[in-house]
Order: sequence, then structure tokens, then C-alpha cells
Amino acid sequence: MFRVGSAHAAVASCILITGASGELGGALARCYSRDGVRLSLWGRDLGRLAAIADACRALGAIVETRSLDIEDVAAAVAAAVEEDTAAPFDLVLLVSGLGDTRPTGEQVEPAELVARLGTVNFTAPAAMGAALAGRMASRRRGALVFIGSAAAFHALPFAAAYSGTKAGLARFADALRLNVRPYGVSVTLVSPGFIDTEAGRQTHDGRAFAMAPDLVAKRIEQAVRRKQAHLILPWPFVLLRAFDRLLPAVLRDRLLLSLTPPG
Ligand SMILES: NC(=O)c1ccc[n+]([C@@H]2O[C@H](COP(=O)([O-])OP(=O)(O)OC[C@H]3O[C@@H](n4cnc5c(N)ncnc54)[C@H](OP(=O)(O)O)[C@@H]3O)[C@@H](O)[C@H]2O)c1
Repeated sequence: MFRVGSAHAAVASCILITGASGELGGALARCYSRDGVRLSLWGRDLGRLAAIADACRALGAIVETRSLDIEDVAAAVAAAVEEDTAAPFDLVLLVSGLGDTRPTGEQVEPAELVARLGTVNFTAPAAMGAALAGRMASRRRGALVFIGSAAAFHALPFAAAYSGTKAGLARFADALRLNVRPYGVSVTLVSPGFIDTEAGRQTHDGRAFAMAPDLVAKRIEQAVRRKQAHLILPWPFVLLRAFDRLLPAVLRDRLLLSLTPPG
């Protein structure tokens, strides 16, 4: 149930965060931590999950953790449904994700990597999101957040699987948003450009406009409160998306081909 009061305009009380052992997921967990909030934090790395859980408890949250590899999509959906049955989620943040770039010396990304990214970046969050959105729709309340990427809007030649899987997730989130809106459930797609995390630095070390994870978490919290459909950040990526759409195809292709893979 959403509570209104205190310093926070609207506070969700039962929250699931996947990828909570990661930097953006951890920042979101801390951002939502306060008295009366129950957090279910998922990831694979038990040590990092435990450290985030301790930080969130110190801020007043009641915290449970789950170590689970979401490549096992059926297990991830079953666990999400089991937790939602025990304590219905008000807010679900699907943050887990894998980055990639074509390995040096390879002409194309290896097939196994493409398949893995398909599962972690698209199939698992989409299937979990669908299962939980349906349950929220029958309760007539709830909010879902999908963490996509600004890469979804650009055909990056050196990261076809990453941009492709995040593009699929973006379209899924938008369609699901319209699907469940009549039932009082909101869906927010977040499309970050550069976030200053260890994983992010592997692909955009030193890039301008990289945002601190805590700042991104705050902006996401605001967007959820406003039931915003789409949050693109930082702002230059809004312009970049428009530019990509407006540029004639020949020029766009030439520009994208001129981009060099990071590293
Ligand atoms: N950093 C950026 O510049 C940037 C830009 C755009 C979008 N994003 C997106 O933002 C999200 C968070 O990124 P981040 O920079 O915070 O990366 P991160 O620190 O590497 O966090 C990624 C999280 O995903 C989890 N994860 C990965 N594969 C998993 C699997 N098979 N099963 C379960 N959990 C899995 C990781 O769990 P373990 O560590 O426990 O394995 C970790 O908690 C991702 O979806 C990413 O695509 C990031």
C-alpha cells in the first residue's frame, strides 16, 4: 500500500529490487530504506547483498535477501510469485542486467553471449514483470520499474546484443504500461546513458555526463512517484535519441559505424 506522509510524499512499503547487489540496485535499496519499508533484495553475490542489506537495516528498513541466478527464468518467476503471495509488492524495480561489447578481435559477438544477454536483459525481467503486473492488476494497485538503457535507441555496432535486448525491454515496458494502466498499475521505463558504476566504467570510462548511482536512484524515486512513463537520463541522451531519429539513414549509419568500441 502507498502511504503518504513524513518527508516523503509517497512511500511504498513492500519493495522488490533485482540486481540489488550491483551499484545502481544498491543505491535504489538505500534510497527507499526507511522505517516501515520492507525490502526484498535479489542478486547473486551473497557478500555484496549482505553488505547492502546491513546498510538498509541501519536506515530502518526490514530486509530479506535472495541469491538467485535469473538465467533460470522459471525459478525467478516462481520465487517472485512466492514472495508476492507472502507479502504483496507495492513496487518492483527490475534492475539486474549485463553489459557487453564485442570482444577484441571478434567480428561479431559470440552466440552464447547473445543468448545470455537475451535471458538476463530481456526474458527474465519481462517474465517477472508480467507475472507481478498481473497480480498487481488484480489488486488494482502497484508500480513496476524496468531499467533499460539509452543504448536501446541506437544501433551500436559493437554492442548489438546489449542495445537489442534493451530495445526489446523498452518496447515490452511501454506495452505493459498501457496494458495495466486501466487497473491502476504504473510502469516506468528508465533509460540511463552513463552511470558512474564499475560496470559502466568498463564501457564508458571517463565519459562526460556520467551520473552518480545515488543521484540516478533519487531521480528514479521521483519518476515513480509521478507515475512517469519514461525517464531518460542524463539529459544529453534525450537529445541524442531525437538526433538518431531525425538523421537521414545514410548519415546515421555512417555515424554509428564511426563509433569505436570502448576499451
Ligand atoms: N552503468 C551504466 O552506465 C548503465 C547505463 C545504462 C543502463 N544500465 C543498466 O543499469 C542496471 C544496473 O547496472 P550497474 O551499472 O549497477 O551494474 P552492476 O553493478 O554490474 O549491477 C548489475 C546487477 O545485475 C545482477 N545480475 C547480473 N546478471 C545476473 C544474473 N544472471 N542473475 C541475477 N542477477 C544478475 C548483478 O548481480 P551479481 O553482481 O550479484 O552477480 C548485479 O546486482 C543494468 O540493468 C544495466 O544494464 C547501466
